[in-house]
Amino acid sequence: MAPPVPLVRHLSRFPAWPRPFDPDAELDWSDPAFSRRLLAEHLDQAHDGASRRRTLIERHVTRLRQLLPDPPAHVLDAGCGPGLYAVGLAELGYRVDGIDVGPAVIRHARKEARASGVARLTHFEVGDVRNLPLEPRYDAVLLIYYVLENLTAPRQAAALRRLAASLRPGGRLIAEFRLRPDQLPGRLSAWEVADGSLLGKRRQLLLSDSVFDRTRNLFILREVAIFPGGRVAVQQTTSRLLRFEEIPVAFARAGMRVTHTFDGWTRYPGSPLCDSLVVVGEPEPGSPPTSTRRAGSRPPASG
Ligand SMILES: C[S@@+](CC[C@H](N)C(=O)[O-])C[C@H]1O[C@@H](n2cnc3c(N)ncnc32)[C@H](O)[C@@H]1O
Repeated sequence: MAPPVPLVRHLSRFPAWPRPFDPDAELDWSDPAFSRRLLAEHLDQAHDGASRRRTLIERHVTRLRQLLPDPPAHVLDAGCGPGLYAVGLAELGYRVDGIDVGPAVIRHARKEARASGVARLTHFEVGDVRNLPLEPRYDAVLLIYYVLENLTAPRQAAALRRLAASLRPGGRLIAEFRLRPDQLPGRLSAWEVADGSLLGKRRQLLLSDSVFDRTRNLFILREVAIFPGGRVAVQQTTSRLLRFEEIPVAFARAGMRVTHTFDGWTRYPGSPLCDSLVVVGEPEPGSPPTSTRRAGSRPPASG
């Protein structure tokens, strides 16, 4: 008889109800092996999982062109993943720096820029939004596809302060926030036999358990993969979502004011009923650090 799957040994530190940002289980986005597996998901054109499909990204880049100052403004794509937005913007003449904690996605972003002939307009490096230098270097900073939500509230606040500090006066932050996950409040658990997942490429029994805690506005997804032979891999991602009314407060604490809020990538104004928001903010005059306003700045098109 086959030996029992050693679930208890592997899961002994896995509590019955998920703990937010559990250090024993929470995903390390900078892990090179995970970054390689995630890259495949980013580039997969069958779903909009890690990055959106290229056709959708092209539409978003067109919209960003309306929200950004004119090229050749200097843009930071923070949490750029494989650089699909960044390269699209460089093709429009922007100078784009991209940072991401994942080494494999950064390698891909460089390759993507070379293949598109925009390597000289781009610079990609492994970096964490929490450690950005406090230098007002950018005309615009992008946070695309909910990059901040995997940080705890204090870390989100610290990252926003750094992002604000990296903007020149007259610059703008364009940040995408998810107001709710694709799940009603409560818990949803499921299993399936999968040919691969972010936990590994082989056939596996994949168990998932997700909790949307509406009171604390936390969404926690735990996945357990059991591979043939009994190896078990576990992973948790905690998403700390901001409420609609929290966003201007978070921006103000970071020294910025919200100038526009849109219903996702549409031109319609955002509201608490939206699933996601694209928020434009700019440094409050007088908030440190300061330097001269860049020529060519213009307000984003809102209508
Ligand atoms: C949902 S993906 C979006 C990627 C990209 N913006 C896009 O839309 O194609 C989120 C990205 O944020 C990165 N990330 C997560 N935490 C980060 C951090 N603290 N600093 C920089 N990047 C981070 C992840 O590695 C991942 O590539």
